[in-house]
Order: sequence, then structure tokens, then C-alpha cells
Amino acid sequence: MLTVAREAALEAGKFLKYNVGKVKHIERKQGQETNLVTEIDKQAEALIIKKIKQHYPSHDILAEESGKHNVQSEYRWIIDPLDGTTNYTHSLPIFCVSIGVELNGAIVAGVIYDPSADEMFTAEKGGGAFLNGKKIHVSSNDALINSLLVTGFPYNVKENPNHVVEHFVNLLMEGQGVRRLGSAALDLAYVAAGRLDGYWEVFLNPWDKAAGILLVQEAGGVVTDFKNKPANIYEPSTLATNGKIHQQMITVLQKSL
Ligand code: IPD
Ligand code: CA
Ligand code: CA
Repeated sequence: MLTVAREAALEAGKFLKYNVGKVKHIERKQGQETNLVTEIDKQAEALIIKKIKQHYPSHDILAEESGKHNVQSEYRWIIDPLDGTTNYTHSLPIFCVSIGVELNGAIVAGVIYDPSADEMFTAEKGGGAFLNGKKIHVSSNDALINSLLVTGFPYNVKENPNHVVEHFVNLLMEGQGVRRLGSAALDLAYVAAGRLDGYWEVFLNPWDKAAGILLVQEAGGVVTDFKNKPANIYEPSTLATNGKIHQQMITVLQKSL
């Protein structure tokens, strides 16, 4: 399955890269002015689904743009065909493809492919995490003040849901710095690779993080919700760290729960 996921992510990623700057149709989703979807998101998703169905016609699929394709399997492929759509519509090369495979509720394989950097992040449950075939590990920073953090904002950020603004201010004050890259899957992949020490976001969908959670865990990191409950892709709040600063971040997040 990891091989098929990798091939699908590579094919869709090349398609995304080829079409940078060529977007023709931008739609707004769920009545939100800033929540965009393009024909490229949909076409990339169709490529991935076609590939999965060729190899695993009896598996379920949950894809961001087309929803559930259920055949009542214990396996479920969870797809974000273009994570970072806003960046993409500005030709900002921070976006990726994310594909995770769930078996009876646990993520067992995950792939995140960044076509701009030609970086393929892969993980299998119990088998470690890799970047372009080389093993990766989370960072060893143990002090929040020395930690480079990353976050993202939900599309309804202007309503300040779940204290998103307070969390941002609090962690900005306690960490070394905070980045906002615009791709949740890459945020998670970079925590796994030790480039960033911690990532939080108040609201994610399963496709944003299915692959990324496994990558962080397999790279030696920790993923929970803001109350320190073990990661669950169907729970929106997400905290992913190198493990060493996890409790320090939980303490800061708990200031505004
Ligand atoms: C979004 C990005 C963004 C995150 C949002 C996601 P999309 O995904 O990952 O970084 O902050 O929460 O919805 O819409 O580009 O696939
Ligand atoms: Ca996404
Ligand atoms: Ca997307």
C-alpha cells in the first residue's frame, strides 16, 4: 500500500507542479470567502483515486473534494490532493499531496509529497519515518524558548474560534518564533524531520493530518489534542511535537481552553 500511495502522490504532485500559475477556476467552499478550491485540487484528487481503485478496488476512500467512496472495507484511504490551496493560487511553492491509510481506526501508512522541493515523506506503522528514503527523527530541543513552532489558522479565523488568536499570542510569547506556512501536512512532516519543534492547530480535518500524524509518531514525536489526549484524526485540535516540549506547549495551550 505504501508503494501505491507513493506512486499516487508522485503522479498528483507532478501534476500540481506542472499547473502552478495555470489555475482557471477558483470557487469558495462552504460560503467562506477565504476557503478556496480550484479545478486543480479536483483533478489531482481524481488521479489519486483512480490509482487507488486500480490497485485496491475493495478499499474505502475519504477524499477532501469528493467525500466518501465507501465499499465497507476495514481499510480507508484518506486523501488531501492539494494541501496549501491558498499558497497554490498565489504560485507560492509551499503545498503538497497527503495520503494516509487507516486500518480499523489506526493509521498504518502515510505519504506526504512536496513536488516543489521533490521531497517524499513516508511512514509505515512500526517501521520508522523517512524523507526520500533516509530515516528522519524529530528534534531534541527541550526548552520552549529555543523551539521553532508552526501553526495554521482555520478558514473562519476571523471569528476567533476556539481561542485561536489567544493561543497564537501565547505561544508567540513563549517560543523562539512561530511560522505559518499554509500547509498542515508539511507542518507535520517538518516536525517529523526535526526542522520544526512543535506544531499546533485548533481545527484540522482528517485529510490534513492522517499521514502527518503517523510521520511524527514514527519519527519519535508525540501527537495529542490540546488536552493531551492521544491523537485522533477525527478530533479537530492537534498538537504535534518532538515530545520534549509537549508538556510545555500543553501548559501554554491550557491558558486559553
Ligand atoms: C489548509 C492548510 C492550512 C491549514 C488549514 C487547512 P487546504 O488545507 O493545511 O495550512 O491552516 O487548516 O484547511 O485547504 O489548503 O487543503
Ligand atoms: Ca488541507
Ligand atoms: Ca486540500
